[in-house]
Amino acid sequence: MSGLTVSKWVAVARAASLGRRPLAVTLDGLPLVLFRTPEGIRALTDRCPHRSAPLSGGRVVGAQIECPYHGWRFDGGGRCRAMPGLIGEVPRALVPAHEVIERDGLVFVATAKDPGTPYVGALSGRGTVSLRLENRVTSTLAEVAENILDATHTHFTHRGVLRGLSPRRYTVEVTVTGGDGWVEASYVGEPRQEGLVSRLLEGERAVSIGRFISPGIVELEFRGPDGPRLVTTFHLRQAETDTVRGVAVLSGPSRLGLGYLKAALFFPLFRLAVEQDQRILSAAHARRLQFPDIRQMSTPLDVMRPHIDAILAGRRPSVADAPARLVMSL
Ligand code: FES
Ligand SMILES: [Fe+2]
Repeated sequence: MSGLTVSKWVAVARAASLGRRPLAVTLDGLPLVLFRTPEGIRALTDRCPHRSAPLSGGRVVGAQIECPYHGWRFDGGGRCRAMPGLIGEVPRALVPAHEVIERDGLVFVATAKDPGTPYVGALSGRGTVSLRLENRVTSTLAEVAENILDATHTHFTHRGVLRGLSPRRYTVEVTVTGGDGWVEASYVGEPRQEGLVSRLLEGERAVSIGRFISPGIVELEFRGPDGPRLVTTFHLRQAETDTVRGVAVLSGPSRLGLGYLKAALFFPLFRLAVEQDQRILSAAHARRLQFPDIRQMSTPLDVMRPHIDAILAGRRPSVADAPARLVMSL
């Protein structure tokens, strides 16, 4: 993928999970409340300036959100418009407001000024069938991102689901490239996978690509001879210390028969794979906390991690200047 522009938008929820009630989400430890107004979705810091009650516990009245404690009302810009019981002019009271947009069934919050265009997924806007899932895991963003992009764990963690039951491996050539804020690995040489998920969806697989895009997008793209067949895009964020939350979008071109029936069949398996990862990631995280001074060991098979770490630290991944190649048995 070339010319990939990295944005400062972070997907924090599925649009479908934001109904008439306000929705609480956290982003890097910052509590936010999302709510719908007739003009669109709004996002405020989830703390009332009066006595600090979470506004997300209140209700939406027209274009305003009402605090559940004493009923102060705030507009989408965070300005207090009513203080029940107070006679005379409403004194100035402000809650920080955050830029927010809805795109392709996801709600994105900006983490900086001039956030650019949100990256929804590789197939976005191309007549696709999509399914979305929200989840949480006790771990760090780097560990979860690596896990999703790590082809070597699937033989064990996902035996029978993403992989077949046979221990057979194939020689695969991996090319890792990148740019400012992103890295991707292409795998060539894998035959069609025998796991249930692959059987259902992919057909003949020509190349698989795994990519990480700042600030927390992890994407797996399976391409057949005629283009992308299946893309899973995980929008991850470190919600709190030790908690990663994510919205996963599963999409495929509808013209290739990834109709709702197939997608509906596939979804429970996808969920199962996600649960398998959640279990191993949480267990490993607990061990890391017990052995905080011991570094984790890596080998050349851990192709993505150094680049994910570099990007998360704000550095340019080394593969941006010189692509890396290696052959592995997968
Ligand atoms: S705490 Fe919100 S109105 Fe009092
Ligand atoms: Fe996994």
